[in-house]
Amino acid sequence: MDITSGTRKIIIAIDGPAASGKSTTARLLARKLGYTYIDTGAMYRSVTLKVLEAGLLERLHENPDEVVSLLENIDVIFDGERVFLDGRDVTGAIRENMVSRHVSFVSSLKPVRETLKQMQRNMGRKRGVVMDGRDIGTVVFPDAELKIFLVADASERAKRRHVELLQKSGESIAIPTVEELEQEILQRDRSDTGRTLAPLKKHENAVEVDTSGLTIDEQVALVFSLALEKTAV
Ligand code: CDP
Repeated sequence: MDITSGTRKIIIAIDGPAASGKSTTARLLARKLGYTYIDTGAMYRSVTLKVLEAGLLERLHENPDEVVSLLENIDVIFDGERVFLDGRDVTGAIRENMVSRHVSFVSSLKPVRETLKQMQRNMGRKRGVVMDGRDIGTVVFPDAELKIFLVADASERAKRRHVELLQKSGESIAIPTVEELEQEILQRDRSDTGRTLAPLKKHENAVEVDTSGLTIDEQVALVFSLALEKTAV
């Protein structure tokens, strides 16, 4: 507890489906609070990239335990907005379509979830973190003082993802259409919600925020005011 400023450090868990605005909200919220932002989706994406680069994907469909050796010394760290996998900057690579297509499958493997859950709990042990993902409020930090569940219409989410890809890729690279993105997002929602291990679901104490009609500033302000209520002592 930080007595000098009259606030205490808490854990803020932000869960929700693909492209619901979690990472933007979580990053800006963390900045306003002076907290560390942890993007757990980037961790699952990093493991997926490692699986793809090792040529293991097909074999994992047959024998999921083969992923264990790959996880032994895995190192995922965040430095500002950049993500490093085993010392290599993979910030761009983990957003590629190839990774997006396979990340839900890799995330459904038990050894992957167990390894990342331990890493995430370690990262949050001093509190003062905003962590976003699918199972942060339900599995990783069920004791998080503030749990948010962000939702938005699928068509709106696809439009947002399209704008994001356009901004990141420039004009030279072909990107999926809004319709293709909506299908990909809906498919990922189905896999994430339907899996047995740590499925995407709202914790009973989570505050649901529908970001469909909100601007980024509005959604950050809303979540920030909820955070202030919880940090006040
Ligand atoms: O940014 P976007 O909403 O596209 O997804 P993400 O947050 O980068 O997460 C990518 C994928 O990782 C999700 O679709 C889930 O399959 C998986 N994931 C998970 O299983 N558990 C988490 N805590 C975070 C992500």
